[in-house]
Amino acid sequence: MAMMISSLWQFCLLSLLLSYAVVELQASHLVYSDLQTTQLTSTQPQAKDPYRTGYHFQPPKNWINDPNGPMIYKGIYHLFYQYNPKGVVWGNIVWAHSTSTDLVNWIPHEAAIYPSQPSDINGCWSGSATILPGGKPAMLYTGINPQNQQVQNLAFPKNLSDPFLREWVKVPQNPLMAPTLANQVNASSFRDPTTAWLGPDKRWRLIIGSKRHQRGLAILYRSKDFMHWTKAKHPLHSKEKNGMWECPDFFPISKTSSVGLDTSTNGPNVKHVLKVSLDNTRKEYYTIGTYNISKDIYIPDKGSVESDSGLRYDYGKFYASKTFFDSAKNRRILWGWINESSSVNGDVKKGWSGLQAIPRTIVLDKSGKQLVQWPIVELEKLRTKEVTLPSTVLKGGSLHEVFGVTAAQADVEVAFEISDFKKAEVLDPSWTNPQILCSKKGASVKGGLGPFGLLTLASKDLKENTAVFYRIFKSQNNYKKYVVLMCSDQSRSSLNQDNDMTTYGAFVTVDPVHEKLSLRSLIDHSIVESFGGEGKACITARVYPTLAVDGDAHLYAFNYGSESVKIAGSAWSLKTAKIN
Ligand SMILES: *[C@@H]1O[C@H](CO)[C@@H](O)[C@H](O)[C@H]1NC(C)=O
Ligand SMILES: *[C@@H]1O[C@H](CO)[C@@H](O)[C@H](O)[C@H]1NC(C)=O
Ligand SMILES: *[C@@H]1O[C@H](CO)[C@@H](O)[C@H](O)[C@H]1NC(C)=O
Ligand SMILES: *[C@@H]1O[C@H](CO)[C@@H](O)[C@H](O)[C@H]1NC(C)=O
Repeated sequence: MAMMISSLWQFCLLSLLLSYAVVELQASHLVYSDLQTTQLTSTQPQAKDPYRTGYHFQPPKNWINDPNGPMIYKGIYHLFYQYNPKGVVWGNIVWAHSTSTDLVNWIPHEAAIYPSQPSDINGCWSGSATILPGGKPAMLYTGINPQNQQVQNLAFPKNLSDPFLREWVKVPQNPLMAPTLANQVNASSFRDPTTAWLGPDKRWRLIIGSKRHQRGLAILYRSKDFMHWTKAKHPLHSKEKNGMWECPDFFPISKTSSVGLDTSTNGPNVKHVLKVSLDNTRKEYYTIGTYNISKDIYIPDKGSVESDSGLRYDYGKFYASKTFFDSAKNRRILWGWINESSSVNGDVKKGWSGLQAIPRTIVLDKSGKQLVQWPIVELEKLRTKEVTLPSTVLKGGSLHEVFGVTAAQADVEVAFEISDFKKAEVLDPSWTNPQILCSKKGASVKGGLGPFGLLTLASKDLKENTAVFYRIFKSQNNYKKYVVLMCSDQSRSSLNQDNDMTTYGAFVTVDPVHEKLSLRSLIDHSIVESFGGEGKACITARVYPTLAVDGDAHLYAFNYGSESVKIAGSAWSLKTAKIN
């Protein structure tokens, strides 16, 4: 068995090397990188594929997963990502690479990191970029060694004058961090190094995802020179019953402003965020807390829920996310991998699997108790043909079509106003799980105050639609207190039953008595990314309509509650971005 695996890998490696030789050969003939782009784009089966997106990041074909090493260098944004050059399922993973000047349009480059030395010969897995003092980027990533152990490696750009940083050189000292008998690190659960941060003692620190039995661990390493790393005696943080922590992300966030902070920032006006991706459930959660640099520990704020029933960036499909500090615009930007909800057969038919979410800026909410996310402002450049929805009363049981927008590729921003709360249903105290509540009370279940919201990617006969909506409940012990539920109901999203059509839900911490209830949905053929309460709750869904495709897709506003609500807002058709 071991023999077979190793010869299989040798074969893969050989073919990988061969295929890279070909790519390199091709690239050396193509002097203009935009020609390369055109050539790659023209091989896309775009015209016939109803699910290919118009403005989400994806390569022309094949499997992608985690975003890796996002950063900005000399005014150019870089995104690397886990990519299988050979197929639509996970395997043969390399770091594919694209760059952009606006985070919307992207040009592809050759793979930046691929198996080439013993410490990564069996795989180049996820990692993060750190910008060293003086501006030089350093890339730390997980390699799989000949014993199939997970180890941490370092690579630098070959030519710092090349703003595209097309070539990367691995340091000969690799691996820089490895499991040993002495350090007791689990060699099968030791991956995804974060961006490193510099302490006041001039030592670098980073964390690596791990577990011991079912305790999730953020293993802490320190270094004076970025080359020699020592494991700290204690993890930065850990939590029982979490299982493996993948793709940890640890960063500071300002308590007083919406400006993003460099990862090494700390001080009295700074909180810290720790996000982990749970391998057991394929969901992420984050906590907000305090980083005590003298003890080198992170302490989540009192009341933090440290499981996937806690705070999440996204209550739908969204995994292996990673932030970076955009020093050009002083903001922190979040990337996240959006997996398919189709069957593998569906993926084979499409010829691709996986997307990246629209990058989101993240800031701390006024309450200090959660983050708020919003699509990067640059996306608005794609908006065209604004259709305004003048303030309209949506009576109970009504449906209004939004005409004049390309409903399969659109950006919709509406706000609801409620003046009468009498008909709000009472929230049963046992309804603590918003996803289950949304599944029980889907869009077709009539209510008092709600469901009201949008029917996206809807067919004319409404047989297919993805409903993004609110329901407002009054709390049982305080009738003046309201609970806002946001749902994304995929149960009618496609006539094709092979897809995962799970309904998602989240509670949104807005006060509907004093605030308008906003809803923004980014609709892009097979994805609906929704932002409730101005970014306090986000839900991303993957859907595969069979009727509501391209020009046959419609957009509606609806209210299936008995109480009227007021709606106003705008919808835009979105232009297609130039992506890879
Ligand atoms: C480095 O990149 C710059 C800019 O692309 C280029 O002009 C130069 O020739 C490169 N140097 C080497 C050694 O490749
Ligand atoms: C180490 O990780 C592997 C892979 O998840 C797991 O099977 C094993 O139980 C782990 N060992 C310990 C001691 O946690
Ligand atoms: C960090 O921990 C030390 C030692 O317990 C304590 O004296 C200090 O106040 C803590 N600092 C912060 C910022 O919590
Ligand atoms: C991706 O989606 C498929 C289909 O819904 C599911 O079976 C799989 O577990 C998902 N994987 C991850 C990592 O989310």
